[in-house]
Amino acid sequence: MFMFLAPSIWVAWPLLLILSAAKAQACKVGTCGDMSILEPFGLVTDQADNTSCRWYGFQVTCNNSIPYLGYYRRNQPFRFRIVDIFYNNNSLLVIDTHKTDDFTNASDCHVPSVNTSYKIGSPFSISDVNQKLVLYNCSKAPAAAERSEFGLVETKCGNNTFARLVGRYDDDESGYALDSCYAVIVPVLGRDGEAKVSNYEKLISGGFLLSWLPPQQSDSC
Ligand SMILES: *[C@@H]1O[C@H](CO)[C@@H](O)[C@H](O)[C@H]1NC(C)=O
Ligand SMILES: *[C@@H]1O[C@H](CO)[C@@H](O)[C@H](O)[C@H]1NC(C)=O
Ligand SMILES: *[C@@H]1O[C@H](CO)[C@@H](O)[C@H](O)[C@H]1NC(C)=O
Ligand SMILES: *[C@@H]1O[C@H](CO)[C@@H](O)[C@H](O)[C@H]1NC(C)=O
Ligand SMILES: *[C@@H]1O[C@H](CO)[C@@H](O)[C@H](O)[C@H]1NC(C)=O
Ligand SMILES: *[C@@H]1O[C@H](CO)[C@@H](O)[C@H](O)[C@H]1NC(C)=O
Ligand SMILES: *[C@@H]1O[C@H](CO)[C@@H](O)[C@H](O)[C@H]1NC(C)=O
Repeated sequence: MFMFLAPSIWVAWPLLLILSAAKAQACKVGTCGDMSILEPFGLVTDQADNTSCRWYGFQVTCNNSIPYLGYYRRNQPFRFRIVDIFYNNNSLLVIDTHKTDDFTNASDCHVPSVNTSYKIGSPFSISDVNQKLVLYNCSKAPAAAERSEFGLVETKCGNNTFARLVGRYDDDESGYALDSCYAVIVPVLGRDGEAKVSNYEKLISGGFLLSWLPPQQSDSC
């Protein structure tokens, strides 16, 4: 489940292993906007920080007081915006800004085309506190009976694209495939009364919870 490391964020393993033989330091704790960035997280500003960060994967990039998970090369678009970090239970609330952008381009409205899980790798996993939002892009319209049975809501992009709220986020892959439709799974936290499928845009922009495995002592040296 944690095999898919996002290439843009976590690609420097071999180099890191070499460098960790040299003296590795914790990356810097600090603040970004009004958010405290504490261990195991650390702020990175350039490549030097990137490689000196003790716990790989926990780098945070601060851009104009907004924290993003990961280290980004120059001119790379940021992806996971950090809304809150819960140090008490090893979880954090993030927004996948690429997925919120999908719906906002009026000249090129599209539904997300990649499962969020493909962009999440160790030490992070998608918490089962989230709900599972499924976005369908269908080559032909599902029957009306099917639409009402599954509570499909057509998205603002039209063209046979639909949203559906399935329930708890888990690894169960059964129960949401639809004939002639391409299905993409997006975790959403859906706090308060907003967990209605018709609020799919609000749900996506509300973010989702990631959990992290605390770094082992052996990860540092
Ligand atoms: C820093 O991390 C980025 C993203 O993983 C990687 O592409 C880059 O090569 C790293 N920089 C160094 C100096 O290792
Ligand atoms: C950083 O923030 C500024 C101001 O909001 C924005 O113009 C810029 O595109 C951001 N950088 C990246 C890489 O997203
Ligand atoms: C962690 O705690 C926060 C509040 O302190 C809560 O909102 C969040 O759902 C918890 N995370 C998990 C994974 O249960
Ligand atoms: C909107 O989509 C068009 C076509 O893909 C693209 O050229 C344009 O840059 C996009 N605009 C924004 C604001 O992302
Ligand atoms: C649906 O999928 C097709 C084929 O991949 C793609 O060209 C189209 O942009 C998608 N439509 C939407 C609204 O996302
Ligand atoms: C549906 O797709 C066609 C062809 O891709 C496009 O021209 C049209 O604007 C789309 N309709 C909507 C409502 O997005
Ligand atoms: C998304 O994940 C589900 C469950 O693993 C899978 O059935 C589906 O094919 C995936 N969709 C894409 C576009 O990769």
